[in-house]
Amino acid sequence: MNPAEKKALRRRLLDERQTLSVEARAALDQKILNRLLALPEVQAANTMLVYLDFRAEVSSRGLIEWGIAQGKTVCAPVTIVDERRLIPVKLRCADDVILGAYDIREPANRSDTVDAEEIDLVVLPGVGFDREGGRLGYGGGYYDRFLPKLKPGTPRIAVAYELQMLDAVPLEPHDARLDAVVTEARVYRRM
Ligand SMILES: Nc1ncnc2c1ncn2[C@@H]1O[C@H](COP(=O)(O)OP(=O)(O)OP(=O)(O)O)[C@@H](O)[C@H]1O
Ligand SMILES: [Mg+2]
Repeated sequence: MNPAEKKALRRRLLDERQTLSVEARAALDQKILNRLLALPEVQAANTMLVYLDFRAEVSSRGLIEWGIAQGKTVCAPVTIVDERRLIPVKLRCADDVILGAYDIREPANRSDTVDAEEIDLVVLPGVGFDREGGRLGYGGGYYDRFLPKLKPGTPRIAVAYELQMLDAVPLEPHDARLDAVVTEARVYRRM
């Protein structure tokens, strides 16, 4: 798939996601959260990196609140645009945030950084996914650069609406694979 086709695919998926009403998304978010909390990797995690949703992404609030209430260390990414890099920073609560790069919320206190080696679960968003752990992001390569810094075997789980599932995401060698994608309908585990 050439860059123009990939861009058009992102556009189509994002437009489609945007057509869900706020109420419809809230109902799907709850189903996704229930599936997510039933996963052994999520239950077992001590230190997790969770994205802060923007626009019509699946809400991550329930997961963040649950994790903090469970006594887990919950971090979210700070985006360093110049270096195309994500830095995990600890969240004290779900609203412990400021607006960062691209108008994405990020942890308010940048001094609470957490090493990638300490993270034992990553929950990430994306634009499109397939059943084999393929992920299409927003085109910055931020997660593709970040995920290889994790301890080998650290679970990488995406959350998405079913309408974001594709037969096959166009992948390139730098694209990092996921272990599972959780939608309102089911959990897709990479075989
Ligand atoms: N590990 C890497 N090292 C260097 N460059 C990379 C790496 N991963 C991705 N890139 C570059 O980043 C750009 C965007 O990559 P890609 O289209 O896969 O982004 P994406 O997966 O949609 O974005 P994101 O991961 O931020 O959600 C590409 O030009 C790619 O070459
Ligand atoms: Mg990629």
